Amino acid sequence: MSDGGEWVEEYVSEDGEELYQSLCSGCHIADGSGAVGAGKYPALSGNPNLEFADYATYIIINGQAAMPSFGHFLDDKQVLAITEYLKTNLGNDYEADGTLDAVADARPAEPVDQNTEEHE
Ligand code: HEC
Repeated sequence: MSDGGEWVEEYVSEDGEELYQSLCSGCHIADGSGAVGAGKYPALSGNPNLEFADYATYIIINGQAAMPSFGHFLDDKQVLAITEYLKTNLGNDYEADGTLDAVADARPAEPVDQNTEEHE
């Protein structure tokens, strides 16, 4: 996985699987099974919360607790691609019903950059 962060700024893939494996699998594991160790990373495979596109979209953009936010360097298409990947892969079989409009709506009004700001 990543040991730096610079590659992330330049990440241009719009392929949901590629984005997931690059950005998310370090914590959620390649097959979405999650992990418990230094932290608790919820399983994304067989996760009923993924039935709703807005749920995953919101968390990808804004982060949640120990999960970092990705909204500041992924564009709407990339966020949608990851959301659809989660809904239709990793053992999930939900409808890929997310929209670019919904992604745009999930973005915060004020730009947040949780990765460069310490909140603790
Ligand atoms: C640094 C580790 C880390 C990375 C990287 C990460 N996550 Fe998470 N993720 C977490 C943690 C920790 C939580 C639980 C947050 C909480 O306590 O509410 C979480 C929660 C989630 C949830 C909510 C699960 C639920 O049922 O509530 C989703 C969806 C999710 N992550 C998707 C992703 C996606 C997609 C990516 C890649 C773009 C990603 N995560 C990258 C650590 C990570």
